[in-house]
Amino acid sequence: MKTILTGIRVNSEPTLGNFLGALIPMVRLSNKYSKDYNINIFVPDLHTIISDVDGDLQQNLLMEIKYYLAAGLKINENVHFYRQSYVPAHSEMMWLLSCVTSTGELFRMTQYKEKSNGGDESTNAGILNYPILMAADILLYDAEYVPVGEDQFQHLELTRNLAFRVNHKFGREIFVPPVKTIDQVKFMEMDDGIRIRDLQNPEKKMSKSSKSENSKIMLLDAPEVAAKKIMSATTDSVGKIQFDMLNQPGVSNLLQIEALVNDRPLQEVISTWAGETRYGDLKKQVASSVSSFLADFQENIAAIPDEMVYELLETGEEYANNIADAKLAELQKAFCIR
Ligand code: TYM
Repeated sequence: MKTILTGIRVNSEPTLGNFLGALIPMVRLSNKYSKDYNINIFVPDLHTIISDVDGDLQQNLLMEIKYYLAAGLKINENVHFYRQSYVPAHSEMMWLLSCVTSTGELFRMTQYKEKSNGGDESTNAGILNYPILMAADILLYDAEYVPVGEDQFQHLELTRNLAFRVNHKFGREIFVPPVKTIDQVKFMEMDDGIRIRDLQNPEKKMSKSSKSENSKIMLLDAPEVAAKKIMSATTDSVGKIQFDMLNQPGVSNLLQIEALVNDRPLQEVISTWAGETRYGDLKKQVASSVSSFLADFQENIAAIPDEMVYELLETGEEYANNIADAKLAELQKAFCIR
């Protein structure tokens, strides 16, 4: 059975960007494919500690699993939730993979450059090595499909390269490489990778770490607060409602958000607004969609008991440890350390 896998760090409450870029696509894929695919949803707690955690990591983790459930993910025996650190093979696999990764590959990663302020030497080594752990997360389970936002594509390409490199080194198919990013996007039924933009500065992605509260929508924002943030979003002076991320990123971002929160195809939303010119009308519509979406979602979260989450994690971790230990042993044998 093939595997679809994803993870979201738990440094803080997610933004609408994390949610629409990664969580919602995973929920949609899971509900569509979980009869025939393994659905692996894990919490990358070890990736989380590369930077500061807002609030309590354990609490954030519990909430994250609830977000998937509150967003409508249906559980069955093929859906597995687990914590990365509860499956020790991830860390061990990372070491083995680090021995076939060049430092140049790591220094070239855009996220490393950003998070290290262009290579500041006081940056912790976790930030540099993080893509190797991500490759381990994926390759341990032969996951072919990895729904992530566009900012993670470079890490996914590295993962593919490492899989091919290991297979070539040992002359056999130890790993199943994840499919190319272009095919990931097709599998997610998207035209392109998703990058929800900062509401105030739509050239940039919406990010948890942004200092301006108006630039990001957090999942637990009161619906009316979220609506206000949409109403104050930066647009442009072109005066046409159309999807053109390059020249009109603010307006395009609103169209994208409107499509995703209503689970409508982007093309359909674009055609609904074709020929319209009043940005205020678009903002009102998106503000209303986002606030009713958040209201429903927040009501669903409150109904999920903590015990249910812990039970899911324990069952998932048993499954994950079995699969991951077997794959780790295969690579250990290939390296002759077993
Ligand atoms: P993280 O925690 O930074 O982000 C989680 C997911 O959210 C997506 N994302 C966005 N998508 C659209 N628009 C945005 N503005 C936006 N901001 C964030 C990210 O692309 C990501 O999919 N390394 C990963 C976590 C991870 C992982 C993995 C993912 C660890 N191992 C294995 C998949 C498979 C990360 O830090 O994502």
